[in-house]
Amino acid sequence: MTKPMTIPEIIQTKGKRKLSMLTAYDYPTALLLDKCQIDMILVGDSLAMVVLGHKDTLAVTMEEMLHHTKAVSRAVTYSVVIGDMPFMSYQISPEQAVENAGRFLKEGGAQAVKLEGGATVIPQIKAIINAGIPVQGHLGLTPQSIAQLGGFKVQGKTAKAAKKLMEDAKALEKAGCFSIVLEAIPGPIAKLITENISIPTIGIGAGKDCDGQVLVFHDLVGMFDRFVPKFVKQYLNLNQEIENAVKQFKKEVEEEKFPQHEHCFSINEKELKELKES
Ligand code: KIV
Repeated sequence: MTKPMTIPEIIQTKGKRKLSMLTAYDYPTALLLDKCQIDMILVGDSLAMVVLGHKDTLAVTMEEMLHHTKAVSRAVTYSVVIGDMPFMSYQISPEQAVENAGRFLKEGGAQAVKLEGGATVIPQIKAIINAGIPVQGHLGLTPQSIAQLGGFKVQGKTAKAAKKLMEDAKALEKAGCFSIVLEAIPGPIAKLITENISIPTIGIGAGKDCDGQVLVFHDLVGMFDRFVPKFVKQYLNLNQEIENAVKQFKKEVEEEKFPQHEHCFSINEKELKELKES
């Protein structure tokens, strides 16, 4: 069996090879990603939109996140599992943050947590790390602040905004984060940040120069088309494939072509005869 990926290894990988991260919210998907040796599996709060049908990520609860993190952890033997701290599970106080981060490891079986924000959440990040829990930061387009940002918009497009991103990245590095997700920021800004911090940057819509890349699994396989951002590459059109299969099933049921002999169980003729006679 291959040695499992670890947090120290993720940090040491910077500059040597690119890191891969994908979301998973259930056991079968996590089994597949783990088999492909994806470095990090994120149980993202994108669960709210992609699987639970909410319009944004704000509604998902700790209990829902834990439910899905447990399913993912049951499948994983190689990848580092990261639990995404949902909206209002860490913003209130460092104590609240530690308690909820701890639940991701203790109950969910994750190895680390991710949370959104820069300088304002440093006390929370420090407290979680002091409790022995690895933290991944998340800067740029932070969907939990959608109301403040005024929508799903590219961030860091002015010199002032980019400088703030750089300062936040440095603050997260200093606080002890093991990596930082950079979401929807110009490639040159992500490159500058990547070159100026010692921990890996994981980009999503942040260009090719980050230390790794992350995508939402349902985007990658073409299973979520309610909203497809420019940075998404759909490697498959699974929605179409599933639609074709479901329509075919319905047609074959109606035309009595399914099930066939090989899908059915038989019974000894003698037993059947006895049953009919009785
Ligand atoms: O929730 C999520 O899926 C994320 C990724 C987009 C990084 O935060």
